[in-house]
Parts: sequence; C-alpha cells; structure tokens
Amino acid sequence: MYLRFAATVSLFCLAIVFVVGADSPSPEYTGVKKCKTCHSYAKVGGMHYQHWEQQKHSSAYRSLYTEEAREIAAMANVQDITQSAQCLKCHVTTPSFTTEKQRAEGIGCERCHGPGSLYSDSKTMKNRQEAVKKGLLPLKGQTEAETLANAEKQCRECHGLEHKDENPAAKEFDFETAWPRVKHDRETLKENFPDKYK
Ligand code: HEC
Ligand code: HEC
Ligand code: HEC
Ligand code: HEC
Repeated sequence: MYLRFAATVSLFCLAIVFVVGADSPSPEYTGVKKCKTCHSYAKVGGMHYQHWEQQKHSSAYRSLYTEEAREIAAMANVQDITQSAQCLKCHVTTPSFTTEKQRAEGIGCERCHGPGSLYSDSKTMKNRQEAVKKGLLPLKGQTEAETLANAEKQCRECHGLEHKDENPAAKEFDFETAWPRVKHDRETLKENFPDKYK
C-alpha cells in the first residue's frame, strides 16, 4: 500500500517536473552573431549590428589586453586580467561566456536586451509581449521618459563613480551626453546609413 502511494507521489512529481520543464526552458545567451543575421539588414531587423560594431562596447573585451588594462589591474590588485571575474563583469556580455571566441564580442546586444535563444525568431520578435516572456528585457516604456530612465539605470550597472571600489578607473557618467552616442533607434540608423535605408 505504502509503496503504491510512494510510487504515485513520485510519478506525480515527475509529471510536474516534466510539465514545468517543458513549459519554461530558460533562455540562453547566443552571442551577437545570431542578432546579426537580421539586425544587419535595413529591410529585415535594421542596421543595429554595424552601428554597435563601430562603438566601444564591441571592443570592451579586446581592451583588457592593453597596457592601460595592466595599469588598471595593478591598481585593483588583479593578476590574471582576462580570467578575473571582476574585470569580465563589465567587459563581456555574460560570465557564462568562457571561451575567447565567445568573449571577443565584448558587450554584445544581449547584455542590454537579455539572452536571446528563445526570442530570436521573426515571429516572436514582432510580438513584444511574447518576446519579453521569452527573455527580452522590457526596456521600452510607455513613454519616452520611462524608456530613457530604464536605459540610464542599465548604463549605471557599469558606468559611474559608484563603481570606484571594483573599478579604480571609474569615471563620472553623464547619461545626457552618453546616450546619443549609443542609441540606435530607426532615425539614428537612417542618419548613419542613409544609402541602406533608401
Ligand atoms: C529572425 C530575425 C531576427 C533575429 C535573429 C533577431 N531579431 Fe530582433 N527583431 C527582428 C525584427 C524583424 C524586429 C522588428 C519587429 C517589429 O518592428 O515589429 C526585431 C526587433 C527587435 C527589438 C525591438 C523590440 C521592441 O519591440 O522594442 C530588439 C530589442 C531586438 N530585436 C533585439 C534582438 C537581439 C538582441 C537579437 C539577438 C539575440 C535579435 N533581436 C535577433 C528580427 C530578428
Ligand atoms: C556591461 C557593462 C556596460 C553597460 C551595461 C554599458 N556600458 Fe558603456 N561601456 C562599458 C565599457 C567597459 C566601455 C569601454 C569599452 C572599451 O573602450 O573597451 C564602455 C564605453 C562606453 C562609451 C564610450 C566611452 C568613451 O570614453 O569613448 C559610451 C558613450 C558608453 N559606454 C555609453 C553607455 C550607455 C549610454 C549605456 C547604457 C545604455 C552603457 N554604456 C551601458 C560598459 C558598459
Ligand atoms: C563596474 C564596471 C567595470 C569594472 C568592474 C571594470 N571596468 Fe573597465 N571600464 C568600465 C567602463 C564603464 C569603461 C569606460 C570608461 C568610462 O567611461 O569609465 C571602462 C574602461 C576600461 C578601459 C579603457 C578602454 C579604452 O577606452 O581604452 C580599460 C583598459 C579597462 N576598463 C580595464 C579594466 C580592468 C583591467 C578591470 C578589472 C580590474 C576593469 N576594467 C573593471 C567598466 C568597468
Ligand atoms: C549598452 C546597451 C545596449 C546594447 C549593447 C545594445 N542595445 Fe539595443 N537598445 C538599448 C536601449 C537602452 C534601447 C532603448 C529601449 C528600447 O527601445 O527598447 C535599445 C533599443 C533597441 C532596439 C529598438 C530600437 C527602436 O527602433 O526603437 C533594437 C531593435 C535594438 N536595440 C537592437 C539591438 C541590437 C541588435 C544590438 C546589438 C547589435 C543592440 N541593440 C545593442 C541598449 C542596448
């Protein structure tokens, strides 16, 4: 009797694990190449990839190999820079990237937009609610002001004097001047790549 009860209970648990597991696999980081397949064509996702590539976020990992990096690391008492969780934290997309190949992208799209393994198909991408359910971070707010506040909060996860303890080279962060250099809405992309948006 007891055995039968135990068997039923464990079967029941197994069923729960199965259902929950099948319902919500967790999103994973795919790397910027995945986003590039659509976000490098004006007529598909948009010219976001090329815009990002021209910015310093895309060289954030390479910067850890410079003389300047060695100076900063010395101040922070960090030995093995490219293996240091402290430096990698703000210089690569995610700590789950462990190979040189993965890390080479520096701060990729998914650092700001969320892990993309589940939302990166064109059907999901066109349905924001669904995309958010599948891992896209809800940065866009109801108003422009709300969107900018969400953006600034995210920048400050890495930028600003409040990080002096972990980053001895931390500088003051002025969102008003920094955002125009990073933003990549359609208007900005059109200005930057006029011949692609003809
Ligand atoms: C299969 C093509 C495709 C891939 C791959 C893709 N996207 Fe998209 N994405 C689109 C399209 C098309 C839109 C525009 C949807 C619209 O305008 O309704 C879009 C929209 C977006 C938006 C705006 C969403 C919104 O509603 O504000 C973000 C952010 C985004 N993509 C990020 C990414 C990131 C990050 C990746 C890589 C992890 C990625 N996309 C991969 C096609 C793609
Ligand atoms: C994951 C950490 C991280 C986040 C989040 C982040 N940044 Fe950065 N940002 C960096 C790093 C690291 C660099 C330096 C990269 C390099 O030069 O190697 C940088 C460089 C920059 C630069 C170039 C600075 C210069 O001196 O030329 C600008 C502008 C900038 N970020 C703006 C922003 C804005 C705006 C946001 C928010 C929307 C943001 N960043 C979010 C880490 C981050
Ligand atoms: C809290 C986030 C954070 C941490 C931790 C951090 N950095 Fe940075 N790093 C930044 C940001 C943001 C910038 C861009 C400059 C700025 O505006 O402060 C930057 C810039 C740099 C640059 C200059 C890139 C260029 O423009 O030439 C180097 C080199 C660097 N960091 C190395 C390091 C090293 C080495 C460590 C580990 C000891 C480290 N960083 C830890 C956020 C961080
Ligand atoms: C430093 C953080 C950061 C990085 C890196 C980044 N984005 Fe964004 N992105 C933002 C923020 C903040 C917004 C504004 C909020 C929004 O519209 O969702 C935005 C907006 C967008 C939008 C909507 C633009 C529109 O028309 O309103 C798309 C699409 C997008 N990003 C795609 C990408 C892709 C693709 C990459 C990589 C090639 C990328 N982003 C890299 C922070 C970032």
